[in-house]
Amino acid sequence: MPANTYIATWLAVTQTGARPVPVEPVESTYNIDPDQITATLISRTRAVIAVHLYGQTADMDAVNTLARERGIKVLENAAQAHGVKYRGRKAGALADQVRALRNYGSRRKYVNDLPGCNSRLDELQAAFLRVKLRHLDEWNVRRSRAAAWYLGSLPRLMPEAALPATPAWPEPCWHQFVVRVMDRSAGQARLAGLGIDTLIHYPIPPHLQQAYAGLNLPRGSFPLAERLADEVLSLPMGPHLDVAALSASFARPLE
Ligand SMILES: Cc1ncc(COP(=O)(O)O)c(C=O)c1O
Repeated sequence: MPANTYIATWLAVTQTGARPVPVEPVESTYNIDPDQITATLISRTRAVIAVHLYGQTADMDAVNTLARERGIKVLENAAQAHGVKYRGRKAGALADQVRALRNYGSRRKYVNDLPGCNSRLDELQAAFLRVKLRHLDEWNVRRSRAAAWYLGSLPRLMPEAALPATPAWPEPCWHQFVVRVMDRSAGQARLAGLGIDTLIHYPIPPHLQQAYAGLNLPRGSFPLAERLADEVLSLPMGPHLDVAALSASFARPLE
């Protein structure tokens, strides 16, 4: 599983009694590097987990091929990839299976096809999301517009920022727009001075968290994930963004 991800996925693995084995990302896409998965596989490896981080998909053809060759399962975490397409197919398109799993593995009352669990949304949250879901595609288009603006404008407005690579295979949903800045504190402070809020996803990789001290993976074990944790900076992103307003904020002198 990815070394650079939100700890949620690691915790889910730990909850099952399995051991998380981190893998470095591809530097330009932030997603798990299929070439580095192979070296971590052992006879007890049960599954590979790809997290579609920040709304871009991992290189799933490569991940699926190596998993098929070794007879291990592939899990996709699409928590940040609502509406994302990978080579024309939506990421995490398992609705029927998941619907059953969240309801005791049942598709028909008192008929249980799978060993599922009780993980249904409560009614109020479901009601809100039911309405929001109708807007998802349009909101993702708006996010794409903001991302296109960033990709076109940041080389001029924020030349110290390394931009995310956009490989040919996904249609990203831009859950986050994440750049890398070597002197991140300075970059963050400069943007704050322009009234532009930023966040860091994520400042401490899971293997360096106290929660995983037992894995005995000290600093230096995953240098790329650790460097990304020091350099990544999430710029404002969301369907509410207005490109003209963004442009006005960034266009104020940055010197
Ligand atoms: C990849 C990823 N990002 C973020 C989150 C956080 O999700 P939430 O906002 O529901 O806590 C999760 C939770 O599972 C996750 O797996």
